Amino acid sequence: MKKVRKISFTTAASVIVVSGTLIVASMAQAKPPRSETQIAQERAALMTAVAKGDDLWHSAKLGNNGLACANCHPDGSASNVHTWPKFQTNLGKVGTLREMINWCIAVPMQGRILEYDSEEMIAMEAYATYTHRGVAIAPAKDEQHGAVPVKSGPGYPRH
Ligand code: HEC
Repeated sequence: MKKVRKISFTTAASVIVVSGTLIVASMAQAKPPRSETQIAQERAALMTAVAKGDDLWHSAKLGNNGLACANCHPDGSASNVHTWPKFQTNLGKVGTLREMINWCIAVPMQGRILEYDSEEMIAMEAYATYTHRGVAIAPAKDEQHGAVPVKSGPGYPRH
């Protein structure tokens, strides 16, 4: 078996010169605790992205042939989000979840690919990874959420 290389972490320090005085500042400073209000705002922002991703996943607007992601992948959490990056034969290389999402938009949905850092792409990733939280990490699909029933036809009815 290949030997696993140990990675050690050291605390970085920066040297700043202010009016001729040498100041050595540790970069490992604790962040001030966030208030309940800040935490609630951050959570609300995440949930807005998750809801947007859920909408996109279940709508036909990303493609040009009436299909939604959910027609083929009913449950975002069951799309193996935890296995990326990995080698994917359609991509022909080690790719990312976002590249796979774009492949599905371009090929099975005949749509226009998204910018990798676009609000839509981040929302899709937020939705898929958020709904996967709490699911045991396992290579097999049977460890994931059960499938959501899909009706055939264009788009996908909201659940
Ligand atoms: C017409 C069916 C179809 C539609 C619609 C579709 N996909 Fe896919 N999807 C596929 C196929 C085919 C694969 C590749 C399966 C393989 O090669 O193992 C795949 C693979 C994936 C994977 C990787 C799953 C894994 O096992 O690692 C993800 C993630 C994914 N699709 C997301 C999406 C998203 C997001 C959308 C909507 C933008 C979408 N797909 C729309 C057919 C579809």
